[in-house]
Amino acid sequence: GFGAVGAAGIGFSLLTGGNSNKASAATEATGTLNIPDLLEATTSDGTTTYTLTAKTGTSEVLSGVTSTTAGYNGSYLGPTMKWTKGDTVLMNITNSLGDDTTVHFHGAHIPPKMDGGPQNAFADGETWSPTFEVLDEAKTLWYHPHALGTTAEQVVHGLAGMIIVEDDSDVSAALPSEYGVDDIPIILQCLAVDSSGDIKYEATGYRSSTVSFPVLVNGTNVDSTTLGFTATKTRTRFRVLNASPADIMTVQRSDGGTLTQIATDQGYLTEAAEVTTIRLVAGARAEFVLDLEDAVTLQAVVTTGWIRGGSGTYDFLTVTPEASDTPDDLPSALNTITRYDTSDFTARTITLGQSGATMLINGSAGTSMSSMAMISTTLDAEEIWTIKNSTQLEHSFHLHDVPFQLIEINGEEPTGVDLGWFDTFEVVGGGSIKIAMKFTDFTDDTYMYMLHCHLLQHEDEGMMAALMVTES
Ligand code: C2O
Ligand code: CU
Repeated sequence: GFGAVGAAGIGFSLLTGGNSNKASAATEATGTLNIPDLLEATTSDGTTTYTLTAKTGTSEVLSGVTSTTAGYNGSYLGPTMKWTKGDTVLMNITNSLGDDTTVHFHGAHIPPKMDGGPQNAFADGETWSPTFEVLDEAKTLWYHPHALGTTAEQVVHGLAGMIIVEDDSDVSAALPSEYGVDDIPIILQCLAVDSSGDIKYEATGYRSSTVSFPVLVNGTNVDSTTLGFTATKTRTRFRVLNASPADIMTVQRSDGGTLTQIATDQGYLTEAAEVTTIRLVAGARAEFVLDLEDAVTLQAVVTTGWIRGGSGTYDFLTVTPEASDTPDDLPSALNTITRYDTSDFTARTITLGQSGATMLINGSAGTSMSSMAMISTTLDAEEIWTIKNSTQLEHSFHLHDVPFQLIEINGEEPTGVDLGWFDTFEVVGGGSIKIAMKFTDFTDDTYMYMLHCHLLQHEDEGMMAALMVTES
């Protein structure tokens, strides 16, 4: 529920959020956590085939008000896909939206022709069938539309789903992995909706008294509801995706206790980290586990992006254990992350800029393939990029194709969970980050990867550039 409502316990838990030794103040659940279906696949001749249809429907984004929405195989959001490292995947995706779309596999290391960027747009009535080998290790990815100029509109209407990549490592085997039982997807969104149910995607019209900013968890409005989940295992793993068009979501416990973070966007940390908050910019993911003794309430703190007039704290989920098992200790090492020595890396500067309502990368508005800035590189190039935010706005920088390491955040060396692998990271107004990456495996002379702001309206307004990786 919305923390500011002040119902007994809700406001209180907020005020005592920093006192980790206080008795836990779990909020009583008044709803049930919706778990997106797991998409069934068929496997033959070593190829795993998935079928998705993007279509329109209706749902209650505001309670009691019907909105026109869209989803994959349903009317809002999409089923979760499980991919396994080493498998060959074939996707058959049919467009029944009445408009062009693409499906981008956010965070996947796949060829640009299969990546679902703007060059992969397909029309209403058509089926797009990309195929690729899963090279990624265990991590949490997601899929969503990425056509030029319509990404914000299509995502906020509900076109988004989670992808779980599994691998056969000992660490993966030691972690909870039973989907919907002890491995739980959490898709957080803050939308802008007017009182008639019309979901907004352009800033024009937000500042109206009839527009409200509902927070959704797996498609369920939690403005005045705390969802409930009964954990039948003591240890539960949560995969959190911020699929909001703009806002930052910070996940924390209402009792101020810690979350055991195990992964960032692009897989496991070197070791589990006890953290009190997990801050996710638009497009980012993280994974954590909880060893539950008592009920725990998870809160989402929604921080003002440009989309809404204020911030709020929502007690979105109360997890109640009904388990008596004693989990083994977590593996002491989850991953080996060799820090890049960037001394011989090629340096570039990527400037995030603005001219009026037009958003720019390196001075160009990426509103068409011909107008966007293009970064050209070659296979196996090692690069260090300074992402410089010359605007006063917050941006969420996302790079397709390969994961990056953070080398600097606003002039400081990263620490803690910022030493993990990322594909999406915050760049504050006037700030900068330095990131390093290697462009392995894939080249193409025609199809390009994208780099862009994941505030979806910024992307549609031009804060997007292309990346072409060629043989030489
Ligand atoms: Cu999630 Cu290029 O996007
Ligand atoms: Cu932006």
